[in-house]
Amino acid sequence: MTETSLPELEAILLVGGRGTRLRPLTLGTPKPLLPTAGVPFLAHQLTQARQAGVRRIVFATSYRAEMFREAFGDGSAFGLTLEYMTEETPLGTGGAIRNAAQALTCGPDAPVLVLNGDILSGHDTADQVARHIARRAAVTLHLTEVEDPSRFGCVPTDDEGRVTAFLEKTPNPVTNRINAGCYVFTRSVIDTIPQGEVVSVERETFPGLIESGALVLGYADSAYWLDVGTPAAFVKGSRDLVLGRLASPALPGPVGELLALPGAVISPEAKVDGGTTVGARAVVESGAQVSGSVLGDDSVVCSGATVTDSVVGPGARIASGAVLRDAVIGDGAVVGPGNELLAGSRLWPGVTLPECAIRFSSDV
Ligand code: GDD
Ligand code: MG
Repeated sequence: MTETSLPELEAILLVGGRGTRLRPLTLGTPKPLLPTAGVPFLAHQLTQARQAGVRRIVFATSYRAEMFREAFGDGSAFGLTLEYMTEETPLGTGGAIRNAAQALTCGPDAPVLVLNGDILSGHDTADQVARHIARRAAVTLHLTEVEDPSRFGCVPTDDEGRVTAFLEKTPNPVTNRINAGCYVFTRSVIDTIPQGEVVSVERETFPGLIESGALVLGYADSAYWLDVGTPAAFVKGSRDLVLGRLASPALPGPVGELLALPGAVISPEAKVDGGTTVGARAVVESGAQVSGSVLGDDSVVCSGATVTDSVVGPGARIASGAVLRDAVIGDGAVVGPGNELLAGSRLWPGVTLPECAIRFSSDV
């Protein structure tokens, strides 16, 4: 990681989204606070930002704003100073950045890091900042390559790395290179975003800057990168952290096949692997098989149940012989014996699924 020469680097963290694609997990908890590899998701981003030289972060909050302060307080546990700015109604990504910028202390020429609050990235943020300063850019966007760019901001560049267009969620992407959700803004550029208005940084600010001739730079690399905005991606992010595919100083235990939180009880006759997190006081009974999954605090996986690449919410119970694959089970829900929940199935919090209510069968 490149050492930054800017000890007082400030950042804005965008955490006001509703996390709709992650329901029911986000019904009670905002996406950035979901337990991921044993800690709130943002703990990974906060510790990485600290390592990259950030010392002060302004949270741009909206949905369930008060929960962020409860979780992270003044930030001293992370060696950071945290401030909280709240939009009464969501202002969009650009409006949120402008609103949060009121709490920045830096001058107009200083670089400001802006982060989407649902990204795991192994890229060298300090080097991105250094490149931004060296090229005197207006904005420098981290770019990564994905298989399906239509779900993201598609970002073509020229040979010098200059961004030539910003095409948010276009059905006809011109490149696989996309906006990875980590920007360096020159502070004065943030101040040109209209105050108190709903603005999309992706659909308005970036295209407007490019059109006006401002230098919008791409910082492309091939480091680990993931947007955890869907259940499949969320569970992948958690298991990749536990397995050490992305190093995180916030991981509350050694890298390995599983992470067991305090009070977890795992039978010696159970098989738990693939980067599974077993929540505090959760129980995995004999003969159960759990792989690549997130088991919430106080959840129970009974004997002979199989849980693969799934999220089991806090206090939920998976009965004997039930099978989960790519499933999300809400807080306190009960999956009765013999059920099979596959391929994106979601059970809402508190629901009890009677014995053998749902089976996906390939033999009919
Ligand atoms: N404060 C605030 N207010 N935050 C918001 C608002 C708002 O009105 N709307 C969204 N956010 C936050 C979300 O909480 C999230 O952290 C971030 O802004 C991005 O929103 P997502 O809803 O996750 O957007 P996306 O994943 O569809 O697309 C964005 O990220 C992609 C990379 O993962 C875009 O920036 C794409 O261009 C990009 O490729
Ligand atoms: Mg996202």
